[in-house]
Amino acid sequence: MSNESTRTESRIHCDALKSLIMSADDAAALIPAGARVGMSGFTGAGYPKAIPGALAERIRKINEEGGPKFQISVLTGASTAPELDGVLAAVDGIEMRLPFQTDPICRQRINNGEMNYIDYHLSEVSQYAWSGFLGHMDLAVIEVAGIREDGSLIPSSSVGNNKTWIEQADKIILEVNYKQNAKLEGMHDVYYGTALPPNRKPIMLTDPADRIGEKYMPCPLDKVIAVVETDAADRNSPFKPTDDVSKRIAGHILDFFEREIAAGRLPKELLPIQSGVGNIPNAVLEGLDAGPFKDLTAFTEVIQDGMLKMLKSGTLKIASATAFSLSPDGIKEFDENIDLYRDKIILRQQDISNHPELARRLGIIAMNGLIEADIYGNVNSTHIMGTRMMNGIGGSGDFARNGYLSIFVSPSTAKDGAISAIVPMVSHVDHTEHDVKIIVTEQGLADLRGLSPRQRAHEIINKCAHPDFKPALLDYYERALHSGRGMHTPHLLEEALSWHIRYENEGHM
Ligand code: COA
Repeated sequence: MSNESTRTESRIHCDALKSLIMSADDAAALIPAGARVGMSGFTGAGYPKAIPGALAERIRKINEEGGPKFQISVLTGASTAPELDGVLAAVDGIEMRLPFQTDPICRQRINNGEMNYIDYHLSEVSQYAWSGFLGHMDLAVIEVAGIREDGSLIPSSSVGNNKTWIEQADKIILEVNYKQNAKLEGMHDVYYGTALPPNRKPIMLTDPADRIGEKYMPCPLDKVIAVVETDAADRNSPFKPTDDVSKRIAGHILDFFEREIAAGRLPKELLPIQSGVGNIPNAVLEGLDAGPFKDLTAFTEVIQDGMLKMLKSGTLKIASATAFSLSPDGIKEFDENIDLYRDKIILRQQDISNHPELARRLGIIAMNGLIEADIYGNVNSTHIMGTRMMNGIGGSGDFARNGYLSIFVSPSTAKDGAISAIVPMVSHVDHTEHDVKIIVTEQGLADLRGLSPRQRAHEIINKCAHPDFKPALLDYYERALHSGRGMHTPHLLEEALSWHIRYENEGHM
């Protein structure tokens, strides 16, 4: 993962595959129009670096010639980077994309209706693939850190859905990336015991530190059609410096944890933490690291900078995830101290890192971001003004519904105060009032556990709404309450989405 090439000796130790080494252009030429391609990649880690760019160039040329449109379907673990989603979307080369993306060009194409996008819970993708709903998998394009003598693969900085793509695809193209730290070898745990119902067996993982699988991924040699060598670092952006709003949100969560420990509802080591990516979750991790906590565990999707710091200081003793999502500074820190981190980080495939059975058994504390929440506790994580896709639900639903505590965080306003994150009714629902336990803004923390809808409305408006919007929210609620309609979840249906319409028409809620 460092920025200096480590290509001193070949990482391709399997003789049968050495003869398949070729350029990215030659490998991209093997991908036909209309192909359904499972690619590696999760939160900007472990995605193929060379073939998507070469393929995009080929697509651009072919489409400029004006024949039948050349597009492919792209299935990954989660988001990738400009070198994959960005380049392919720029040439209109993606017909269908799933299950998660964060790329601005992709987002634009999705919202212009030019790209089909299927936004799935990340834990479920592989079972849908196995069930046949995602169509026939023509090709897998997978980045690895190396190939062993027997052809088995050393995974790179993410595992994601690679196991499923390798097993399902007719043909496989491998990118061997020499920039990935060779010492990643041994950090992975790929589980081969999953099955479709009715043949499922319990997954015997009872602690985030448990290893239940293999360090390597077997790869059928007869399916491999090309091997491409690369030397490119994972592309991740730096975290924004922790701002006052993030610090205040983190402060509310830390106070809450201390109250829960004092009340005997959480052990002093808390419960395994899941933390979404981004500025605020990272600030919470930094806050935990500065606090009195020791020997915490993480059972999460991604390892971000804050978790490295916690592992180094001993606040965190083990982190289980499916990928890294590190800033350039975080990558440097990881590379320089990989011996320290190797025994404390386990990378699993995403159908295990996000598995509902495991999230429920371990009692995860899930912390994720929201776009808006309504006064009854429904959360929208994905849609801007009800119609435009932002990123996708990612793993938030896997953890929020099945964890022990589901916490959602957000600044109380967006777009310089023009938008309230707390609204009368969300314009799209990802997490229902039944799944959302705690909502936190810089204004305060609403604890919704054990409250009826009317009690929740008071708690959310009073604790989380920005003072600029609080009177209007209380006014809406009071008028709804006395409207003569149902009083279990009072609403004024003709007004419920008027805040969004006002923003679209006037630029202010
Ligand atoms: N209406 C319109 N725009 C809004 C908004 C709202 N209610 N709330 C936030 N936004 C905009 C922000 O202005 C910002 O836009 P910009 O990039 O143009 O500045 C953007 O949405 C992101 O908001 P930000 O406050 O920076 O939050 P974030 O980076 O923490 O992202 C989510 C918040 C909800 C988009 C993000 O957490 C997400 O994608 N969640 C779903 C996936 C997930 O939870 N994964 C977790 C498992 S790892």
